[in-house]
Amino acid sequence: MQILRNVRHVSSRCSLSLLDLNFWQPSIIRLIHHNAATLTLELEHVGPDLARFVDGQRMSHLSDDQQHRIWIDISHGIKYIHAESIIHFDIKPENILLGAGNRAVLCDFGISMKGATSPVFHDGGTPCYIPPEYVFHVQRGYPGDIWAFGVTLLFVFGIISLPLGTWMIADVPKNPHVRSKMLDWLDDLEQIVESAPGRLSLLRSMLINNPKKRITALQLVDKLPATVLSERMYTDVLVQTVS
Ligand SMILES: Nc1ncnc2c1ncn2[C@@H]1O[C@H](COP(=O)(O)OP(=O)(O)OP(=O)(O)O)[C@@H](O)[C@H]1O
Ligand SMILES: [Mg+2]
Repeated sequence: MQILRNVRHVSSRCSLSLLDLNFWQPSIIRLIHHNAATLTLELEHVGPDLARFVDGQRMSHLSDDQQHRIWIDISHGIKYIHAESIIHFDIKPENILLGAGNRAVLCDFGISMKGATSPVFHDGGTPCYIPPEYVFHVQRGYPGDIWAFGVTLLFVFGIISLPLGTWMIADVPKNPHVRSKMLDWLDDLEQIVESAPGRLSLLRSMLINNPKKRITALQLVDKLPATVLSERMYTDVLVQTVS
């Protein structure tokens, strides 16, 4: 096994959230060793992150198989961390790695939080993946991870290009100009989601504006096998029709 030596500032939140995981789950980055004295984390080396799989227009060129593995594996990973009371807070293509056999792995627990029982104020993360509840209630929680993964999947499925918004998340509640930038992005997303292929209804349920109505990781894992199976059949039919 190759080892990536990832040296950086180890915040207490970061080390706690990874260290608090009881056992290894294949879709969560494996912490091999840590040393608080030298601020060193040794992580399993997985492979390239999803943002590397783009063409000149920043559109994903992940294969159907890779897309489905990402959807299934990361849904299981999120279900696992949520069951352990961990919110990731920064799910995005750059923080999902593809390893051998297309195993998808969630990494970068640098701003994650352990033990949150209700939505909390948290202004970390990446602008284009922040859920609408942050704009309207300045709070986010477990459903925010599902939203961020939904936006990530829009990229993975080639529906949007790799998002590049650069506004300051902390300024959204206090600066009307920044807030309207974020609202414009959410409007764009709403239109994109509405016009996404009907067969992607499960993906749409990850991007419901109301966090209380948004699908949970548990429900997602439950519903995914049937969806992916019908997706595969859909692709097979397409391939047969074209050939
Ligand atoms: N275990 C790993 N195996 C392979 N690549 C990794 C691994 N961990 C991180 N990387 C690569 O390094 C990048 C940055 O790592 P990470 O996301 O953990 O830190 P970060 O805080 O986002 O750092 P930065 O802000 O410098 O991007 C990832 O996007 C990924 O490309
Ligand atoms: Mg990162």
